[in-house]
Amino acid sequence: MKKLTFGTPESLVPSKFCENFKWEETPVAFDTSAIAFRKTRGGVLLEYKAAADTHFYGCGLQFWEFDHAGHKLTLRCNADPLTPSGDTHAPVPFFVTDKGYGIYVDTARYAEIYFGAQKPGDSFEPDENYVVRLSTDELYAARMAENNTYVDIFVPNCEGVDLYLIEGETITDIVSQYNRMAGGGPEVPEWALGVLYRCNGTYSDRQILEVASYMRENDLPCDIIGVEPGWQTHAYACTYVWNPERFPDPAGFVGKLKEMGYHVNLWEHAYVYPACPIYDEIKPYSGDYTTFRGLVPDFALPEARRIFADFQKKLVEIGIDGFKADECDGSDNTGGWAFPNHASFPSGLDGEQYHNLLGTLYAGTMHQALDYKPTLSEIRALGALAAPYPFVLYSDLYDHRGFVRALVNSGFSGLLWSPELRGVGSKKELLRRLQTVTFSVQCLVNAWNCAKIPWLDYDCVEEVREILSIRRQLIPGLKAAFDRYRDTGVPPVRALVMDYTNDPATFGIDDEYLFCDDLLVAPIIGTESDSREVYLPAGKWADFYTGLPVPSGKFTVTTEKIPVYRKIGD
Ligand code: GAL
Repeated sequence: MKKLTFGTPESLVPSKFCENFKWEETPVAFDTSAIAFRKTRGGVLLEYKAAADTHFYGCGLQFWEFDHAGHKLTLRCNADPLTPSGDTHAPVPFFVTDKGYGIYVDTARYAEIYFGAQKPGDSFEPDENYVVRLSTDELYAARMAENNTYVDIFVPNCEGVDLYLIEGETITDIVSQYNRMAGGGPEVPEWALGVLYRCNGTYSDRQILEVASYMRENDLPCDIIGVEPGWQTHAYACTYVWNPERFPDPAGFVGKLKEMGYHVNLWEHAYVYPACPIYDEIKPYSGDYTTFRGLVPDFALPEARRIFADFQKKLVEIGIDGFKADECDGSDNTGGWAFPNHASFPSGLDGEQYHNLLGTLYAGTMHQALDYKPTLSEIRALGALAAPYPFVLYSDLYDHRGFVRALVNSGFSGLLWSPELRGVGSKKELLRRLQTVTFSVQCLVNAWNCAKIPWLDYDCVEEVREILSIRRQLIPGLKAAFDRYRDTGVPPVRALVMDYTNDPATFGIDDEYLFCDDLLVAPIIGTESDSREVYLPAGKWADFYTGLPVPSGKFTVTTEKIPVYRKIGD
C-alpha cells in the first residue's frame, strides 16, 4: 500500500473521523509517477492511463451499475439514487480493478470519477466495417471499447487530496486491506443476525405486542422487533420522547418484548425538533440550516456527539439494543428536504462535505449511545471507511433487481446492505423477495407502511415459516463470516469477481454473490419465471438443499426455492 499526497489536502476528510485508521507502507508495482495532478478552476484533478480492458468496481452502494468501465460517477449522497449517475445512499471514493490494484481517495467532496475519459490522439482500432447502429446499447458499446483509457478523478472545492494505492492478487485481497485500514468489520452478536420485523409506523404498544405474540404463536422465527416513528411525540423532526398516548409505559413495553425473547430496535433520525429537550443545548453545535425544521447536529464535534448520544442513552437504559438511523442521506429528487451544499457547520465542514459524512458520523454517535455494545443497527447513509460500524444500509427504492445488485456491490466498499421486504403485489413476489432477504446480512421485513403483516394477504404462512427457518440454520455460518470480517476485513457478501478475479466469466456477474464464505447465492428475480442462468466458478460445488454435487460452469436452474450452492472443495 502506498500513500500519495497531491497539493494541499483538506483537514476534514473521512480518515480524520475514522478512530482506528491505520495503514502500512509496502512497495507497490503500480508506476505511481504516472498519476498526473493539476489544479483546475473548480478543484483538483488526478489522472492516469489504465489498460484498455480494465474492469472497475466499487464507489459505494450502487444500484444501477456494476462494472464502471466507460462510465462516469459523481459520488454524491442521495436518498433517491434513481439513475446510474453515481448518486447513492453511500458514496465511497474507493474503486478496485481486475488488474491487481485499487484506489482510495480520502475526500468527503462530491468527487467525479471518469472510468475512461477520452483525448484527441488516443489510438484505437479503425472500424473498417463501420455500420450505422440503431440502438443506443450498440452505439455506446462501440465507443466504450475504443476509448476506455484515462481514469480521471476530479475532486471539487479543494486544493489537494491524499490517495491510497492498494495492491493484491484478488479484489478480495485489496478490499480487505481497505477495510482493515478503517479497523475491520464490526462486532456483531448472533441475535442480530436473526429475523427483524418492523411494525407499522402508527402502531401503539398494544398493537406491537400483538404482532410479537402472533410471531410466537405461529412459530415464525423472529428475534428483533422494530418500532417505527409513532413512538415519538414528534418524528419529522424528532423529539426522541415517547408518545404518552401510544406508549404510556415505555419501560414496561420494552420489558414485555424482552420477556418474549425479543430485542428491540427504535426508528429515529438526526434532526432535532424544537420541542426536543436537548434542542437548546445542541443548537450551538449545529449547522446554519435545518432539515424538516430540525437542527442538524454537527457530529464532527465531540460536544454534539456527547449531547446527542447521552440523550439517546436513556433509550438504551430501558433495553433498546439497536436503532434505525433514518433520513441522513438527504435528497435532491424528492422535494429537496435536506440542508443545502452551502450550509456551514461549526466544525468547519460545509454542506457538501457533511452530506457525504453525516451517515458515518451519525453511526459513530449511535454506536457511542449504545456504549459500543455489539449490535446490528440500520442506517440510510454511510460513506468511506465505514466497515467498523454495525450498521446496515436500506432504501425507500424497491426494485428487486437493483436490490440484488446493491447486495453484490456492497462488498466492494466496506458496506452492508439490506434488501428488505415491504409491501408486495403477489405471493410469488413476497416469497422471492423473502428468499433474497434471508440470504443477506440482515433478515428484515419492514412493514412500516403495511396495513397488515405482509404475508397475511397471500395464505402462505407455511412457506414463510420454511424460508425464515432456513435463516436460523444460516446464523452460525454468518456469525463466523462476520468474525472473519472483523479480524481480516473480508466482507460476508462478495461479488464473484472478488474471490475469482482471475476468471473473466465473473467480470459481469451482478446477480449472484458469495455469502457466509462457502455459499453462492443466485436469487430468482421477478415473478415471471422460476428459471435463471447460474454460473459456478471452477471448484467442487454441492446443492445447498440436497447436498448433491453440481458441476461448475454455466447452467439453467428451475426451482421455486432460491438457488444456493455450497463450495465443498477446490
Ligand atoms: C422512511 C424509511 C422507511 C420508514 C419511514 C417511516 O424514510 O426509509 O423505512 O422508516 O421513513 O416514516
